[in-house]
Amino acid sequence: MNQPFFITFEGIDGAGKSTHIDALAAAFRAAGRSVTLTREPGGTPLAEKLRAIVLADPMDALTEALLIFAARRDHLQQVIEPALAKGDVVICDRFTDATFAYQGGGRGFDLEILSTLERWVQQTSVAPGDGIRQPDLTLWFDLATDIAAARLAGTRVPDRFEAQPVAFFEQVRAGYARRMALDPDRFARIDAGQGREAVWASVRAAIPSGYLTS
Ligand code: TYD
Repeated sequence: MNQPFFITFEGIDGAGKSTHIDALAAAFRAAGRSVTLTREPGGTPLAEKLRAIVLADPMDALTEALLIFAARRDHLQQVIEPALAKGDVVICDRFTDATFAYQGGGRGFDLEILSTLERWVQQTSVAPGDGIRQPDLTLWFDLATDIAAARLAGTRVPDRFEAQPVAFFEQVRAGYARRMALDPDRFARIDAGQGREAVWASVRAAIPSGYLTS
């Protein structure tokens, strides 16, 4: 099993992706795979600068979407595509589903424009199918918004997204559900309200058989 494999983690803030991202990377490495672990917005020096701006500076929704897709373009070109080309497992903390959920759902930004940007930014001659790079598997950590808000409360100074009210995260969550409905085979919905061990079992169960054994 040395085919490239592109996995993304998604969910509202407070859904609890982080520890499972690290555990999954470790599990793939234990199975002998080379893993590129990265995140969005970010993952390159330029994209990390754009991340800092997007998370802190006030801006309108189109500016926000353009900066996020600019960061994504650089990240794809510099990190994700080269890693997939050498057969890595690429694990990315958030990707374009977050843009449809946060900018599309949360901010109410035009989904057609997001789809256009998605096609421009993710176009590559080496992606299978229609030539638009998409994850092979997306693990959507789904959690009720009040539980996520309670988990986040008091943990750190909130960024521009974490500071949003629960109603915003209801829209984000609905945005994720819509994305999953459009491409159900790519998604695994993880019930993030379970205990940590049960969540981890769900994550492992979502990985196709053979990938986690050496
Ligand atoms: P997150 O991934 O939760 O990182 P951390 O755990 O360090 O806070 O933070 C990134 C934030 O950016 C998150 O609130 C969601 C937001 N975001 C968007 O709004 N659109 C996007 O396309 C992406 C990738 C993230």
